[in-house]
Amino acid sequence: MSTTTSDLPFHLRDNYAPVFDEIDATDLEVVGQLPAELSGRYFRNGANPHTGKSPHWFAGDGMIHGIRLRDGKAEWYRNRYVQTRSLNEGLPTIGKDGSIDLTVGVANTHIVGHAGKILALVESSFPCELSPELETIGIHDFGGRLDSAMTAHPKTCPVTGELHFFGYGFAPPYLRYHRVDADGVLVQSESIEVSGPTMMHDFSITENHVIFMDLPIIFDFELAMKGAMPYRWDDDYGARVGVMPRGGSNVDVRWFDVDPCYVFHPLNSFEQGSKIIIDTARYPEMWRQTSAKFHDTAALHRWEIDLETGTVNETGLDDRPIEFPRLADSRVGLANRYGYAVSTFGDTNAVVKYDLEKNTDVVHDFGKAVLPGEPVFVAAEDGANEDDGWLLQYVFDKSSDTSSFVVLDARDPSSEAVATVKLPRRIPYGFHGSWFAD
Ligand SMILES: [Fe+2]
Repeated sequence: MSTTTSDLPFHLRDNYAPVFDEIDATDLEVVGQLPAELSGRYFRNGANPHTGKSPHWFAGDGMIHGIRLRDGKAEWYRNRYVQTRSLNEGLPTIGKDGSIDLTVGVANTHIVGHAGKILALVESSFPCELSPELETIGIHDFGGRLDSAMTAHPKTCPVTGELHFFGYGFAPPYLRYHRVDADGVLVQSESIEVSGPTMMHDFSITENHVIFMDLPIIFDFELAMKGAMPYRWDDDYGARVGVMPRGGSNVDVRWFDVDPCYVFHPLNSFEQGSKIIIDTARYPEMWRQTSAKFHDTAALHRWEIDLETGTVNETGLDDRPIEFPRLADSRVGLANRYGYAVSTFGDTNAVVKYDLEKNTDVVHDFGKAVLPGEPVFVAAEDGANEDDGWLLQYVFDKSSDTSSFVVLDARDPSSEAVATVKLPRRIPYGFHGSWFAD
């Protein structure tokens, strides 16, 4: 299907417009050389409203675009809807009586692996389990133990293998924290007191703590009843960051005031002596007038919280607009030197690699017409350094209305792409993805 340039809202036109067919393609053309050790699957989730309409970018049905690599070949590409109750039964997450059904989400935001399961996630609902072939298996509620929605951004500790996550809602308890052991068993759930029904998209972990962001995007019942995105900026709410010992509970959370802002995505957080360092893609404000547009851009920002002195230091680390920050899975919650993000401004459409130790960066500028998605880092098998590996992303070429899958060398992303896989169809801009190694 070709893209359109009508007066539809941004999230339904150009390369945000959905694709409607589920296809399979094999033996894809590769320019360059796919690293032979990249054996596995890259799956990326995104909103793809099956009716062609949705009230907000975040509301469309989840569709996974997957590519299978093995022995230096791109064996297949396929795309599949997540077969949710929303898709198949047309049910809303929030009922007319204000009740919420956690089995009904659109599962459109992320796709992650833990304890042998592949989970498609949206923050309003339970996870939806998929097979490695992208067939929908069904709702996964951790054997009935999960009693809240689940964020699309759980964090796997690279040391313990535990999965830490939270769920939020517009009715009390507004926030629940959950801990799943390395075998996939949900072993702890806690209610955490926040100031109100905040929209909490992501969080972070450190070696000994988990970090919550209680920020001023707030549930608005009137918006919900209009069928609109039910969240807006609130000047009166305040902004806080909560630090809780791993495995702790509400009484253990220490809250620190920060300048009002919104953060969808932290890059990482880690401990440094008595300090907690939290790097984020921070918006000075968001959704003040409307959530239909993103007027503001996010930039790389650091909170340094000193647990001994109780002080917070805030520093902008870069002025450029960035989003979709990622890092090596092996550094999640630990001190990281490198981070990767998408940076789009003017004629620049780039993946940027930050060296946070040296305060430098390099970019891979795809040029005026080619827009990259979230860069997913995959470590090389015998890599000695944190950045020994590759960055995987789908890119869209406006000039030809085509998409491809690009592998960059993470050690030097500014160099020519290691490999570009030509794809048989346009892949709409989406959200987050993961690499599932064989
Ligand atoms: Fe996200």
